[in-house]
Amino acid sequence: MRRIQYSSIGGPEVLEVVEVPDPHAGPGEVRVRVRAAGLNPLDAKLFRGAPTASGVKPDLPSGNGHDFAGDIDELGEGVTGWAVGDAVYGQVPSNAQADFVVVAPDRLSRTPADLPVEMAGSLSISGRTAYNSVASLNLGPDDTVFVSAAAGGVGTLAAQLALRTGATVIGSASPVNHDFLRSIGVVPVAHGEGLLDALKAAAPDGLTAALDNHGRASVDAALAAGAPAGRVNSIADYAAAKDYGTTAIGGREFDRAGLDSVAALIASGDVKFPIESVFALEAVGEAYERLLGSHGPGKIVLVLD
Ligand SMILES: NC(=O)c1ccc[n+]([C@@H]2O[C@H](COP(=O)([O-])OP(=O)(O)OC[C@H]3O[C@@H](n4cnc5c(N)ncnc54)[C@H](OP(=O)(O)O)[C@@H]3O)[C@@H](O)[C@H]2O)c1
Repeated sequence: MRRIQYSSIGGPEVLEVVEVPDPHAGPGEVRVRVRAAGLNPLDAKLFRGAPTASGVKPDLPSGNGHDFAGDIDELGEGVTGWAVGDAVYGQVPSNAQADFVVVAPDRLSRTPADLPVEMAGSLSISGRTAYNSVASLNLGPDDTVFVSAAAGGVGTLAAQLALRTGATVIGSASPVNHDFLRSIGVVPVAHGEGLLDALKAAAPDGLTAALDNHGRASVDAALAAGAPAGRVNSIADYAAAKDYGTTAIGGREFDRAGLDSVAALIASGDVKFPIESVFALEAVGEAYERLLGSHGPGKIVLVLD
């Protein structure tokens, strides 16, 4: 099979397509024929040698990518409740960008019939992170919540899940993504210089909560615009928890029902999950250049034929 692999730390140019023997499902495992594999900043942190929240570092040579969707094509001994042909999505540590992945099915989710495979293959990390972070704040109609990086993979979902609680949502993004934010009901503000003034103008009575998907500058602006530290959850600035008493609930916990609920909302069209662009496996370097540069709202995904 083909897999994306890197043998040295560096930019997207270190990623190569290599041929390796087909893996097979062992006892208690299934093999999934991968159809789509979404990109996440975590993948790029690993191949670039940047620090990750968990401190994990790749063993070289390393596979790449976490999110995938496809269909089960082999069942290991003792597996029950799953069948060859089942459409599934999930995540595996640094091995998703390959023709096949072998996984224990307890970490898989069933792909809803109406969910396009590109979305399913981009959903696991962003979906569970957005679900967990929004759930952690117990938002409601009295809240005015700031969602930073609201046009990103996590931010688009977090903003819409927050809106569904009845909260007013203010989201930061580059101006080119503001029309998208308006289209989903989010009040847009630009990130960078002027963010705090923009937040104060958009929330004259002050923020009551914030979902940070960016880092320290956004956390600082949220606190200065009135959000109490205990109602600021950051998935991107873990040190803020120690420095300010904010929370850091991300995608580590797997809440299958929560993720399923997000998948159902996307499949029904009630929540938008834009696919920004699609690349072939062989164009993986180009895909990560796009992820790391400026781009439109939503996810970038590799599609395998
Ligand atoms: N803790 C966890 O469990 C967990 C899970 C998933 C992700 N994360 C982390 O959360 C972050 C977001 O992940 P993602 O998947 O949503 O990334 P993504 O899809 O690449 O989106 C990142 C967004 O950041 C925005 N951005 C760029 N410069 C900014 C700035 N100065 N201020 C505010 N926003 C800015 C971009 O918006 P514009 O294009 O509009 O400028 C872009 O949409 C990453 O650091 C990732 O590693 C953590």
